[in-house]
Parts: sequence; structure tokens; C-alpha cells
Amino acid sequence: MKMRWWEDCVVYQIYPRSFQDSNGDGIGDLRGILKRLDYLSMLGIDAIWISPIFISPMADYGYDISDYRSIDPIYGTLDDVDLLLKEAHARNIKIIFDMVLNHTSIEHPWFIESRKSKTNDKSEFYIWSDTIPNNWQGAFGGKAWTFDEQRGQYYMHSFLKEQPDLNWRKGEVVDAVFKMLAFWLDRGIDGFRLDVINCIVKDETFRNNPKVVGSRPRPYDMQRHIFDRNRPETHARLRRMRKLLDSYPDKMMVGEIMVENPGEPELASSYLGRDGDELHLAFDFSLTQTPFHAQPWKRNAKRWSEAVGINRVPTWVLNNHDTTRLISRLGGNIAKAKLAALFLLTQRGAIFLYYGEEIGLPNSKVPKSRLEDPLGKRYWPFHPGRDPERGPMIWSTSKGYGFSDGKSWLPFANHADKYAVENQMTDKNSMLSCYRELISLRKGDITLKKGITTYLDTKNTHVMVYIRKYENQERLVLLNFSSRQQTIEESSLSGNWELKYSIQRMVEDSQDSGIFQLQPWQGCIYIKNK
Ligand code: GLC
Ligand code: CA
Repeated sequence: MKMRWWEDCVVYQIYPRSFQDSNGDGIGDLRGILKRLDYLSMLGIDAIWISPIFISPMADYGYDISDYRSIDPIYGTLDDVDLLLKEAHARNIKIIFDMVLNHTSIEHPWFIESRKSKTNDKSEFYIWSDTIPNNWQGAFGGKAWTFDEQRGQYYMHSFLKEQPDLNWRKGEVVDAVFKMLAFWLDRGIDGFRLDVINCIVKDETFRNNPKVVGSRPRPYDMQRHIFDRNRPETHARLRRMRKLLDSYPDKMMVGEIMVENPGEPELASSYLGRDGDELHLAFDFSLTQTPFHAQPWKRNAKRWSEAVGINRVPTWVLNNHDTTRLISRLGGNIAKAKLAALFLLTQRGAIFLYYGEEIGLPNSKVPKSRLEDPLGKRYWPFHPGRDPERGPMIWSTSKGYGFSDGKSWLPFANHADKYAVENQMTDKNSMLSCYRELISLRKGDITLKKGITTYLDTKNTHVMVYIRKYENQERLVLLNFSSRQQTIEESSLSGNWELKYSIQRMVEDSQDSGIFQLQPWQGCIYIKNK
């Protein structure tokens, strides 16, 4: 069967403010992305997901949209989008937009109208109540209900009060949203990343969320979110959305599924639809929270892979704009990060990279005076917010690091010179070279892209071992998650294995005894010879 492009794609997420500035205002933009398309093409990625670029008052940096059909002037124009599409497509790169459909900005014309009275045209476009009906909380602090003087009622918001939630129980809202999606599909956009898509429908009778025992810094985390999200009615909406996308050739949607810690892969996979008729792809964030040890890593990879099953497609993600960068979680250890990259790019399904991951870019240090993220402003220093993982890309060692001629909106990572793309390009041992080689290896190997994965239970618990199988082809992946040399001795692994790739120099390059030696943090890929 023909493979659809998202079944084995490598997607590169761009946080547009921080990727490349083209006009010296210190904020990345669409012209900047255009300028770096050749770089992305060299890296070998298949698609770009751009975090929201629509008109927004930027209370949550674009995740509060006031006009879904226009580009915020800070990022560019509709013409820039058209040009980007043309240039990306010429390089075989797809463009995915980030759609925030759970809520709009408080400045969206729908909300401006809705708040005017209880009887206007858009009066039911949002979720209104005479009193605060329940214990729901906003994810960024405070109650989920804010009183609006003008209308004399409370409106519901899952996030900031500047982000009122749309009423997805109202048919007209659904129609309006779908029309807007069609507008972009018609324009040539290849798909959508759907923000917090499991939150769109709320309990019809506004029941209280049950409380969680124990104490957590955010009141939001003190309850189980069973009534303000994950309502069963969501699935019918997603099935309809899927029909819309499938009425075009080759469009894809991937959903962000908001979960309670430490991750709920079964919940995420439920949004793929029992018959695979909802989201094409859904995110599971377990590995962004998993300690970097072989056993928990294997357990969570296996659990997600099983939750998705072999007839649907898993996504794999280690970094994004909402969570500490993996390299920083790993204390800056490049050897570990390369091991993680080898893991990532040898999984079945769709791989998601976050800009800077490929150069080992760590979190920026953001002093209080430079905080931008509303979450950070509210909870600092408890929670530093998400600015640190949104630092500017480092392209060169010149002033502004090739990112901008002006003052960048967020601080650069410390010792930024170390990460410059310009230097890593020519260094065979760089992180960038590692990503590039792994992506290219994956591209040329259907077994790595499509093969079924069997995660093995090994005697040695410091290593993770899995086999990828496609038709009569087999690949063996060995990962040493420890700082010591490890031996893997498994009779089931005997056979004629030939080394295909290693992130560190190998002692021997072919094995048939079922015994393998791995250096500290070494990872390698073997091919089975017949
Ligand atoms: C998602 C986004 C996050 C945003 C939130 C509200 O979780 O990834 O960045 O703040 O939704 O839209
Ligand atoms: Ca700019």
C-alpha cells in the first residue's frame, strides 16, 4: 500500500519569533523562514510546523488569535505565506499551520460581539454563565471564569482570561471554524497542528472536576480534568474535521492532547479514532518527562507504541515550545542527546523535531526582567515559564548570531558561539551532522520508517534494545543509557548483524555471536544479513 507522507515524516517545528529575523526588529518572521529553507532542506526534513502566525494581541504569543485569516504584521503578510508555500513545495517540504480552535483572543470580532448582550448574533459563540458554576481553573492561574461587565455574565477560559473558550456545542461555531480551515486548505497549506484539541468540548452541565489529593504548586493541577476536557462529544467533531481534511488530497492534522502528568498515551491514542477516522496523528508527551534511563524510557516508548497499535501511526517528540529542552534536562551532555536522537529517528511513524534541537541548543537563561511568557510572569520563580525553551536560533558567531541585527526578543543561550550552525556544518562529529546523517539514513531505509518495532526485555538493564522488521528486512538498534561500557548477551540476537551506523567509534563492526559491547552512551544500528 502506498505510504501517506505523514506516516514516516520528519517534521520540524519552528517557533517563528525565534527562528530568523529578517528586518532587525529582534523578532523572527516569515521572510526569515524563507531565507532558511535551504538549510532545512539540507537537514532533510519533510515538513515544517509553524507555531501560530495569525493576527494576535500576543497575550500568549499567538495562541490567542484575533483573526484566523490574516497574518500578524510582525511575521509578514499573506503574500509571504504564498511565497513560503511555493518555495517550500519546490523543495518537497510541506507547511503545517498551528490552529488554536479551543479559544480565540478576547479581541476576536466574535467575542467582541458576543460580550455585547445575551441576545446578539454571536451570543452563544462562547461559554457564558450568570454565576461561577464550578471549580474549573485556568491553566495559567486563577479561575476559569471571568466576569464581563459589559454582558453582566461570566465567560469560561481554559487558559488566560484573554483567551475565551469557543462553544463547540454550537453548530454555527463548528461551521465557522470549518470554513476557516477550508480557507487555508484551499490556499495550499498541507495540514494543521491542533492546539489542545481534547479541550474543545466541555461538560454540558458544568460539573465540578474531582479533586486530586496531595499538594501541587498550580491549583490547576489539583483536580482531575474530566469535565473541562476529554468529553465524549469531542470525537464526533473530530470525525467531521477528518472528513473535511480527507476531502483534499494529502492533508494531515496532528493534535495536541493535553494530559495530566505523567502522560496518558491511551488517552492520546483514543483521538486517532477507533477506526483511524479522527486525527491522523496525536502527540504523546511521556518522553518529555521520562528520566533518561533505559528502563523507564523503554517502558514509555513501548506503552505508547502499543496504545497506538500497528494499524495507526505514532508520533515521537522530545522537545517543543512548552517544555524544557531535552539537552538541558540532560545537563548539556551531548553524548546523551545524540543517543536520544538515535532513538528518536529509529522509531516507526512521524518524528517531530523542535528548532535548535539539531544543534544541541539548550534553554536560555531568562532573568525576571526579561520574562515574556504569561505563565512565567505569574509563577516565577516557582515555574520559570516557557521563555527559556524559546530562545533564538544560533546561526553564526557574528553579532546577533545570524538571528537578528537588532536586540533579540529573548536572550540567547549562554556560550551561544558553541552552537552556531555555521561551525557545526563542517564538523563531522557535531550534533547537527548526527541529526543530518540519521535523517538521511532513515529516509533511505523503509525498514526504519515503516518496520514494526519489538522492544526487547534484556538481561542488562542499562541498555535499550529493539528490532525493526519490515517484510524480510531486520534492523537492530542498541542504546547504552549509561556512562559505563555495557555488554549485551542475548541468544535471541544471534545472527549475522552488520553495523550500519554508530554514534561513537566501534570496536568491531560485525557480530554473529549475539554478544555486543557498547561504549558509554553508545548507540548503533545493525542490519541483518541473510
Ligand atoms: C498549547 C500550546 C501552548 C499554549 C496553550 C494555550 O498547550 O502548546 O503554547 O499556551 O496551548 O493555547
Ligand atoms: Ca522581524
